[in-house]
Amino acid sequence: MDKKVHSVKFNNGLEIPIIGLGTYSRNPQPGQFRQAVEWGIEAGYRHIDTASMYKNEVEVGEGIANKINQGLVTRKDLFITTKLWNDHHAENKVIIGLKDSLGKLQLDYLDLYLVHWPVAATINGEDEEIDYIDTWRGMEEAVRQGLTKSIGVSNFNEEQLARLLQYAKVKPVVNQIEISPTLTQHKLVDYCKSVSVVPVAYTPLGLLSDARPEFIGKDTIKNDPRLDALANKYKKTKAQIALKYLVQRNIVVIPKSFTKSRIEENLNLFDFQLNEQEMALVDSFNIDHRCVPATSFAKYKNYPF
Ligand SMILES: NC(=O)c1ccc[n+]([C@@H]2O[C@H](COP(=O)([O-])OP(=O)(O)OC[C@H]3O[C@@H](n4cnc5c(N)ncnc54)[C@H](OP(=O)(O)O)[C@@H]3O)[C@@H](O)[C@H]2O)c1
Repeated sequence: MDKKVHSVKFNNGLEIPIIGLGTYSRNPQPGQFRQAVEWGIEAGYRHIDTASMYKNEVEVGEGIANKINQGLVTRKDLFITTKLWNDHHAENKVIIGLKDSLGKLQLDYLDLYLVHWPVAATINGEDEEIDYIDTWRGMEEAVRQGLTKSIGVSNFNEEQLARLLQYAKVKPVVNQIEISPTLTQHKLVDYCKSVSVVPVAYTPLGLLSDARPEFIGKDTIKNDPRLDALANKYKKTKAQIALKYLVQRNIVVIPKSFTKSRIEENLNLFDFQLNEQEMALVDSFNIDHRCVPATSFAKYKNYPF
């Protein structure tokens, strides 16, 4: 198996591995995050995605530290992303949130720090109406202090990203958004690329994964014989076809798995190529379905969807 993971270049000259390990779980068992990170690094992942909201930074940090201490990788080999939560959007709270994450992760710098959502909320969940432009000043200060190499956003719509770009002295390098074969996001992806912001796909398996039983009935992609035929042709799984479709669109993917074989499988995408008709077939599964509509944020002024 060809294990070479390609990288995508940022507008600041730095690079991000095109496949990263996602780490969000609604119902984790103790130790699962640490174990997944260790299996991931052993399998060849060098990019790990977490967030303060996932409440797993301590375990993710333990997994990273274990592999560094065993001499398998050095800190420089790794690309670590974490995210600022909605209750730390005040300009003077950004560095506080970032330092808290660094402490939990046992790191002295991040590769990428993201504004997790454009919405700002108090700890009690009330709308704080803090402009994300103010938050961005705190993010820029984090770069100046050397606490993170790059900064970016997540869940920003086109209008919000365009407005941010008008004010940013340090440009965001990515917009991490939901993209999958059932939510292809061509318009927002094209916009991001047109302004040199790298699109990163979260929930890249979309309705193909079993993680979202609430959408049973919409997930016809799972049993579509055309996708089975495509997977069989390349001796790959349907998950690998979905991830390859995104990677061929030059979109960074961050699939999450707690299963050793799937963690390995999701990295094994570089020994086949989908042709134009096959890309169009995967594209045709689009039903603009959001697995993460974040409807509990709909009451906030800057709700993006
Ligand atoms: N910025 C944001 O607001 C945001 C929102 C959501 C997610 N994210 C990030 O994006 C990451 C990925 O998104 P996600 O976790 O929602 O969804 P996902 O990666 O698309 O799907 C994860 C689910 O798919 C299963 N799976 C993984 N690989 C598989 C394979 N090869 N075959 C079949 N099933 C497979 C996993 O099961 P097992 O674990 O049981 O193997 C898990 O249930 C998150 O972990 C997080 O880091 C960011």
